[in-house]
Amino acid sequence: MRLSSLQLRQFRNFRSFGLEPSEGVTLIRGANGAGKTSLLEAISFVALLKSFRSTRSQEMIHFKSEAFNLRATILNGRAEGDDVSLGFGRGERRVEINGARIVRFKDYYGIFRAVVFSPRDMELLFREPAMRRDWLDRILLQVDPGAHDLFLRYQKTLKGKGALLKQPPDPQRLKVLEAWDKKFVEFGAEIGRRRSRLVTSLAAHVADTLPRLLPEAGDAALSYRHDLEDAGEDFSNAEAALRFKLEELREQELERGRALTGPHLHDWAVTGSSGEVRRYFSRGQIRQLMLALVIAEKRYIAECTGEHPVLLLDDIFSELDPGKVDIAAHELSGGGQVIVTTCQGDLPPSLAARPHCVIDL
Ligand SMILES: Nc1ncnc2c1ncn2[C@@H]1O[C@H](COP(=O)(O)OP(=O)(O)OP(=O)(O)O)[C@@H](O)[C@H]1O
Ligand SMILES: [Mg+2]
Repeated sequence: MRLSSLQLRQFRNFRSFGLEPSEGVTLIRGANGAGKTSLLEAISFVALLKSFRSTRSQEMIHFKSEAFNLRATILNGRAEGDDVSLGFGRGERRVEINGARIVRFKDYYGIFRAVVFSPRDMELLFREPAMRRDWLDRILLQVDPGAHDLFLRYQKTLKGKGALLKQPPDPQRLKVLEAWDKKFVEFGAEIGRRRSRLVTSLAAHVADTLPRLLPEAGDAALSYRHDLEDAGEDFSNAEAALRFKLEELREQELERGRALTGPHLHDWAVTGSSGEVRRYFSRGQIRQLMLALVIAEKRYIAECTGEHPVLLLDDIFSELDPGKVDIAAHELSGGGQVIVTTCQGDLPPSLAARPHCVIDL
């Protein structure tokens, strides 16, 4: 799968701009503030209908405009490819595939898949757990758009249950709570299972690349963090484990007025021989680790869908010493479309060896 062309209108600092990335590697080069990150943001928006740097679509509209438009041609398995048109204004959204309007986002996901690494991701291991859960859920959504419904159902159940737990005690409350918890177990266990299996797959890919990217800490491993001790190796016993946990915590949940177990509290971590790596890795080491995670994400998506997602790498090589840049570039040269940004310089040799182009802003 690849992006063949993209037209931006009134998107961030671009009033009107078009690009035609190479089928191999594209280097977007420009000074600070030229719009490199904005271009990657636009491309990833086509994949996720969401920005990787702000939660509000409004912020992407050019300051002096009312709406932005993106038009993309995507080449996938089908010979003629797909034309996507997106228009987001204040209060108005229009999503079209080949001229047909898409109403539900879940009918859109999967038309174009992209994996992003931005400087913000450098903070992922240090930020609140919700960010790391989102990272997993974003991957799940790309390989299975149906996950969108599952996440919504769980959120709704969590909200309903939370509201009930806050009500004053009465004999009816326990009965209603049991009904909520039934759904809670169904959706919660499924999310936990999907995430934990995803982490197992990603961990295997990280274990493959990390020793090359970071030989001195190549044994660092990814693990899913949760409180379901009895969920089983593959989370196959997650329902029973979650039910058990809910019973164990019932009194406390009623007392404190909120759900104290469930996938909305899960997390993941990377641990090496000296503990969680976020406590002792250097900036450069974190960068190499994040790169291993992004490569793992890309390979996982390719494995599940049979197509390489497009890899978007914002300023990936800064902070790396020249030797590490070569190793990183080599790991990235594997195949699929790659779009990288830089303030200056050329592509490292192993990426320049593939078909490529340079876009100077
Ligand atoms: N909604 C908007 N409307 C107009 N301009 C915007 C909007 N949002 C951001 N900008 C401006 O767009 C420009 C490009 O920002 P962007 O982050 O894409 O630059 P960049 O090339 O990635 O820079 P750097 O090398 O510093 O990362 C900046 O000058 C920024 O202030
Ligand atoms: Mg930038």
